[in-house]
Amino acid sequence: MLEIVILAAGKGTRMRSDRPKVLHDVAGKSLLQHVIDCAYQLNPYRLHIIVGHGGEQVIASVESNERLNFVEQKEQLGTGHAVQQVLPHIKDGSNILILYGDVPLITVDTLRALIKYVSKDSMALLTVILNNANGYGRIIRNDQGQVTAIVEHKDASSEQLQLREVNTGVMAATSHYLKQCLPTLSNSNAQKELYLTDIIGLAKGSGIAVHTAQAKSANEVLGINNRRQQAEVERIVQRRFAQSLMDEGLTLLDPERFDCRGTLTVGRDCVVDINCVFEGNVVLGDDVKIGPNCCISNSKIGAGTRVHANSIIEESTVLEKANIGPFARLRPGTQLANGVKIGNFVETKKAIIGNRSKVNHLSYVGDANLGEDVNIGAGTITCNYDGVNKHLTEIGDDVFVGSNTALVAPVKLAKNVTIGAGSIINSNVEEGKLALTRVKQRIVAGWKRPKKNR
Ligand code: UD1
Ligand code: CA
Repeated sequence: MLEIVILAAGKGTRMRSDRPKVLHDVAGKSLLQHVIDCAYQLNPYRLHIIVGHGGEQVIASVESNERLNFVEQKEQLGTGHAVQQVLPHIKDGSNILILYGDVPLITVDTLRALIKYVSKDSMALLTVILNNANGYGRIIRNDQGQVTAIVEHKDASSEQLQLREVNTGVMAATSHYLKQCLPTLSNSNAQKELYLTDIIGLAKGSGIAVHTAQAKSANEVLGINNRRQQAEVERIVQRRFAQSLMDEGLTLLDPERFDCRGTLTVGRDCVVDINCVFEGNVVLGDDVKIGPNCCISNSKIGAGTRVHANSIIEESTVLEKANIGPFARLRPGTQLANGVKIGNFVETKKAIIGNRSKVNHLSYVGDANLGEDVNIGAGTITCNYDGVNKHLTEIGDDVFVGSNTALVAPVKLAKNVTIGAGSIINSNVEEGKLALTRVKQRIVAGWKRPKKNR
């Protein structure tokens, strides 16, 4: 039985933030959530998260479930002290994997390989070779290559500081061994802390062999201590996303200028131009082309659709061959049928728009149902809000709305209605009729324009 412990009690002073470190985001998700998501893939019996600084905020950020257990570490007296706090919560006979809330890129494959080394007389340690080992605990091996200790940077001799194999912090052991050795830790070291790493040195005396696995790349075990490292890790994640999407057949005009903060699913032959941001769950059908500087969140975009530059699409559904933007904004609840055209400086919200209908320029269409082949002229506004309530505008098939029209909801235009430009429409119009509200034009002859004094 596997139980996982995530250390997340640290303050993260170097972030210079009011938020606990593990709640800072990478790819739209907190550092801690990355680790939790990875941990769940191992299907642990329980997942224990050790919280301290900002504990309440940390707890509130995580979706609770019956496998999840938060353990408070009131004072941060070291990594060994942190794991001591969890011992009373751990079942006898289980294996324990220790992870870190600020090491978000760890992969499930690496962890699977690591925990295989745990048995009643062995434990597992994840190490990595670094060019610059500064700050890390060094792995000390004997002549047979067996690990005999970890020496923290601050406690290391100048000879030990030359070693480039370091402790990632990630390790796994039986609960039996942890319950036996953790209570014996002492803080007689440079940092006056209880070091978890000391359980490595204690292993041999307890008849426990230490097996090591190596992380595939240093990236995987990068810890985040400051905003620079956060940005580095962000780029690493984005590069990974970009590469796997390109492998799936997506054209990215520049994978370095691509951001996905969620899940992007693409059909065949999609193209994404530079500086686009995808958030939440976004699905593109086949042959969708997204222009530069678009932000798309939690939306589905059908085959053959074009989204032109600088458009924003949130919680919307677009069927096939639609044409959106440039500078369009589809707000939540927008549903576009096939071949719909939403042009520049058009905002839609809770708008259901039928096949081939067009809203080409400078309009607001909110709380509205439009039929098929509707043409909405430039500067049309659905006046959906009376200051308290939202009201619906209903527009039938083949309606033509002239430019600069205010449709004061609730209002219904039946099929085939025509609205004259510049109208304010506040009552329903029956099928096939023309409605217009227009002040009669006056001509003033001999009108003299005022002139400025020289
Ligand atoms: C630790 C390891 C070091 C390793 C490095 C890898 C120890 C003694 N040293 O050093 O060998 O190379 O990680 O990054 O384990 N934490 C708590 N409670 C505490 C102390 C720490 O929850 O009382 C958490 C921190 O929030 C952090 C993690 O444990 O996420 C590591 O602690 P930190 O003090 O940063 O250890 P390092 O000095 O980096
Ligand atoms: Ca650290």
